[in-house]
Amino acid sequence: MVIPVPLPGHSFLLVLCGLELSWSCPRHCICYTAPTTVSCQAHNFLSVPEGIPPDSERIFLQNNKIHRLLRGHFSTNTVTLWIYSNNITYIEPSTFQGFSLLEELDLGDNRHLRSLAEDTFHGLSRLNALHLYRCGLSSLPNNIFQGLRNLQYLYLQDNHLKFLQDDTFMDLHNLSHLFLHGNRLWSLNQNTFRGLRALDRLLLHQNQIEWVDQLAFHDLKRLTTLYLFNNSLIELSGQCLDTLPALEYLRLNDNPWSCDCKALSLWEWLKRFRGSTSSVGCQAPADLAGKDLKELRKEDFPNCSPTPNSESRAQTNNLSGTVNPSMNRGVAVGSGGQTHIVSKDQRSTRPGLAAQTPEGLRTVKGECRPSLHCQCLYDFITEHLRVLYTYICFSAFVSHSNGAQITKIRRKTEQKSRR
Ligand SMILES: *[C@@H]1O[C@H](CO)[C@@H](O)[C@H](O)[C@H]1NC(C)=O
Ligand SMILES: *[C@@H]1O[C@H](CO)[C@@H](O)[C@H](O)[C@H]1NC(C)=O
Ligand SMILES: *[C@@H]1O[C@H](CO)[C@@H](O)[C@H](O)[C@H]1NC(C)=O
Ligand SMILES: *[C@@H]1O[C@H](CO)[C@@H](O)[C@H](O)[C@H]1NC(C)=O
Repeated sequence: MVIPVPLPGHSFLLVLCGLELSWSCPRHCICYTAPTTVSCQAHNFLSVPEGIPPDSERIFLQNNKIHRLLRGHFSTNTVTLWIYSNNITYIEPSTFQGFSLLEELDLGDNRHLRSLAEDTFHGLSRLNALHLYRCGLSSLPNNIFQGLRNLQYLYLQDNHLKFLQDDTFMDLHNLSHLFLHGNRLWSLNQNTFRGLRALDRLLLHQNQIEWVDQLAFHDLKRLTTLYLFNNSLIELSGQCLDTLPALEYLRLNDNPWSCDCKALSLWEWLKRFRGSTSSVGCQAPADLAGKDLKELRKEDFPNCSPTPNSESRAQTNNLSGTVNPSMNRGVAVGSGGQTHIVSKDQRSTRPGLAAQTPEGLRTVKGECRPSLHCQCLYDFITEHLRVLYTYICFSAFVSHSNGAQITKIRRKTEQKSRR
């Protein structure tokens, strides 16, 4: 028999089959036990309500208008915390400090969040699912996912991410699902996905990806599903996909594929692949536009030399040119600058640019519009704008993993400052 006995405030005393147990429940919320749960969803709360019992394991605050999360709002006993679809603009870095029992954290659909402190999630050693979709994030700080060794689901889709630092996911040895679709990514580098040895699903569709390093997927030995549709890919080498032994589902549709000799290694890979693939619609050359690369025959690749192996790919042209730092546009904080590269080498249709940073080489976004002198305008990321670094110009889509592939050091730029 349960006899609720009203007490002053919003506390109740339950006498439950002779057992006494008392707790309070925040106004407008519903509380229950086994597991101890506080449900405060959809009540126009502007801040986290007071009086959440400290022993609460599950806290549901979704669909309110909460603005800020601060240290002390929740207790370290929390196992499940849902605060999606609020209006969180700030999370105090120590909000989740010591939350060693937390397994699920849903912060999704807080469109004005925009940034997170590096240590926000540090110490969440049991965290299994982290939802950060549709949070207006344009970048992720270094080490943001450090130590999340139990994480299996990471939802980062529908943000404004342009760039992922090397080794961002390094500690996530148990990650199974990584959702990055609907962002603004343009390049996948050799170490973008390093460490993701258990990854099963990688969703990268609806980005602006035009560069995939040949070794970008090198650690993903258990990946079964890769979505790259609706991006800006002109080419993708078969060698790159060869590093994915468990792949079963691949979607490459809605990219501006060029089905000339550049496509030969992908065509060969598709012939070998036993899993399921989307269509791979050709946009160029003109006589193949609209065709599916998978349907082409060997005869459609006349005069193509055999697929270069990685060694011959290392043969790049040395480009000469000018890197003109004064063309730095200095737009919004943390976004971009522009560098003008003029290559005099007409053989090179698509030169690339890498920046020698203290952490190693970083590729730079290139949108090359070939002209007589192969003039390229590059938008580049400014994570290192204030750092003195060296530009390296190299041709074609070669991996820069091997130092021998890098051709010519262009010049050292002066210190760039946006101020
Ligand atoms: C959410 O927060 C932003 C930034 O503080 C504000 O401009 C916006 O009006 C808020 N939206 C709602 C629905 O409260
Ligand atoms: C990884 O996830 C599995 C469940 O798939 C779990 O059993 C295991 O304990 C996790 N390992 C680590 C190191 O967290
Ligand atoms: C591709 O993605 C963009 C958003 O990034 C979207 O507007 C467009 O409809 C998508 N196109 C296709 C064919 O899915
Ligand atoms: C490019 O430049 C590097 C260093 O200056 C040189 O070792 C290499 O032989 C050059 N490659 C070509 C194809 O000219």
